[in-house]
Order: sequence, then structure tokens, then C-alpha cells
Amino acid sequence: MADAAHTRRVFSGIKPSGGLTMGNYLGAIKRFVEMQNADYQSIYCVVDMHAITVWQEPDDLRHATRELVAAYIASGIDPDKSILFNQSQVSAHAELGWVFNCVARVGWMNRMTQFKDKAGKNAEAVSLGLYAYPSLMAADILIYHATHVPVGEDQKQHVELTRDIAAKFNHDFKVPDFFPQPEPIIDGPATRVMNLRDGTKKMSKSGQSDMERINMTDDAALIAKKFKKAKSDAEPLPETLAGLAGRPEAKNLVEIYAALSDTTPEAVIAEFAGAQWGRFKPALADLAVAKLEPISLEMARLMQDPAEIDRILAKGADKANAIAQPILDKTYDIVGFVRH
Ligand code: TRP
Repeated sequence: MADAAHTRRVFSGIKPSGGLTMGNYLGAIKRFVEMQNADYQSIYCVVDMHAITVWQEPDDLRHATRELVAAYIASGIDPDKSILFNQSQVSAHAELGWVFNCVARVGWMNRMTQFKDKAGKNAEAVSLGLYAYPSLMAADILIYHATHVPVGEDQKQHVELTRDIAAKFNHDFKVPDFFPQPEPIIDGPATRVMNLRDGTKKMSKSGQSDMERINMTDDAALIAKKFKKAKSDAEPLPETLAGLAGRPEAKNLVEIYAALSDTTPEAVIAEFAGAQWGRFKPALADLAVAKLEPISLEMARLMQDPAEIDRILAKGADKANAIAQPILDKTYDIVGFVRH
């Protein structure tokens, strides 16, 4: 809960665009739950304003927003312990984002590798919002003076940019301690869950074949089938962790097993040293079903009552706003905006 005794404040967000995969769960949501239950004040956001940097059908966006909330709650985010809301209901994000657009330099944005990857050869045709995205992300974090940001490896550069924006703002306006320097938290065995058909590619909601990913809405039979058909290789499991080198599919399956069972890849190798895939894959399928099926069933139950999800979001937005608005007011005073 919002209480001053917390000195550590976590902020993180997930985009509601398309379906959710086990990669989102193991790489993000599961860690969010752990931090909620440790000594952090936690703020978790459905970043709908980031989602529209690429085209979203409005009905699909509404559905994906509610489904992501259902996934957060079904995975263990408690809306009474954490602040859970969607970004567009707290206007301070966009307002601070504009101020940061005037702090960040074009040269900084040009170095963002994710933009370069996403825009590709099409850089002239993507939205201006996609280019400015990291500046809004900085605002998401700093509007709460958040200190810790659990993110995947691919977001590390954006958190570093957030630190640069905070430092430049503090320096330009001579308010040395106003915005804190947030720390990215990047750890856990499966921060990067790879595709089940190609262990060199990330598990993504937009990949070609449904067999390459586990969706958080998949039922038990489908989860089991996907793991049993997952690509592996001709060797049995190695005797040591080092034996996974150069075996991307094997490494991915071991890491998924470790993450699902809250242990380390070392421990999984110790348990399955020398095992054939015919033994490991069914064990992995059973484990995945045991961990993921209760979440997917609970998500489905929550999705039957969208009005209740919307009430949870509205309450979360009120709590978020109570922290964000005073920080925005102070920012506006610092910048020199006249207010009544
Ligand atoms: N950019 C993040 C992603 O694509 C999502 C995000 C938006 C975020 N705002 C954030 C993550 C603030 C952490 C903090 O995964």
C-alpha cells in the first residue's frame, strides 16, 4: 500500500498488445509478484498509451487491457497490496512525458536500439509516438519517483535513458535531488524465454506459428502438446551447465523448467543429468501444466466480469494519481508553468 515507510518503490509496466505468453509471465509478472511480497511499494501498470505507438484495433485494445489485468491478478498481484492500473487513466504520465520530450535530445533517441529494430527500413513511416516512446517510459517511472524497475534485458537501455533524463532535468533546473536515479532489476533464470521452435529467437506473441509459444490462455492439453513437440536436439541432457553451450533449444527448456519450479538451471541439470528428452519433456510438460493451468483458469474466470476489472483499474488509478499528481505539480512549478 501507499505508505511512507517504504523507501523502495517499484514501477513496471507491460503493453496490452496481443496475447500474453509464458515469456511475459516468467520474465515479468512472476517477478512483479515476488517484489510485491518483499519490502517494496509496488506499482504495476498496463501501459495502454505505449501500445498505441503501433496500430491497435480499439476493441482489441480494450480486451487486451482487461486480459492483462486478469493475468496480473491470476498470477498473484493483489490490488490491495500493489497499485494496479492502466496508464491512460493517470494523465500525469502523458504530461510529464511532454516535459521529458523537451529534456531528452534527439541524438539520445537515435541511439535507442529497440527503435532501430522495430522501425527497421521503415523509419520514415512509423509513428512519432514510437520514436518518443522511451521518453514516455521515463515519465512512467519518474512520475512516481520510483527507485527500482524490474524489466527484461531488452529494456535496460530505456532505463538508462530514464536515468539520463532525470539527471539532465535535475541539472538544468538546479534541483539536484528531485528525480531519483532508478535501478533496472534484470535477473532470474528465465528473463528471456525463447521460442519453442527456434531457441535463438525470443518467445513472442507475434511469432508465425502458435506452436512456438505458450499463451497464458492455452489449456492443459495444448500446453502439454507444445512442450512435447518443442524442438530439442539429438543429445541427452548434459552432466553440467557448461554442456548447454551451443545448444540453444536445450538451454531454453532447462531454463524454463528452472523458472517454473523456482530453482536454478544448475539444480535442474543435477536432477536430469544424462536424461533423454523422452523423459525430460514430459516432466517439463507436467510442471508447466501444474503451474500455468491454474492461472489460465483464473484468468478466464476474471474475464467473465469485465465490470469488476474496470472497477479495480479505477481504484488503482485513484491511488496512482494520489502519488503522481503532487509530483507533477512540483515539476510544473520547477519548470516555470503558472498555475492557480
Ligand atoms: N517498454 C516496456 C516494454 O516494452 C514497457 C514499459 C513501458 C515499461 N513503461 C515502462 C517497463 C516503465 C518498465 C517501466 O516491455
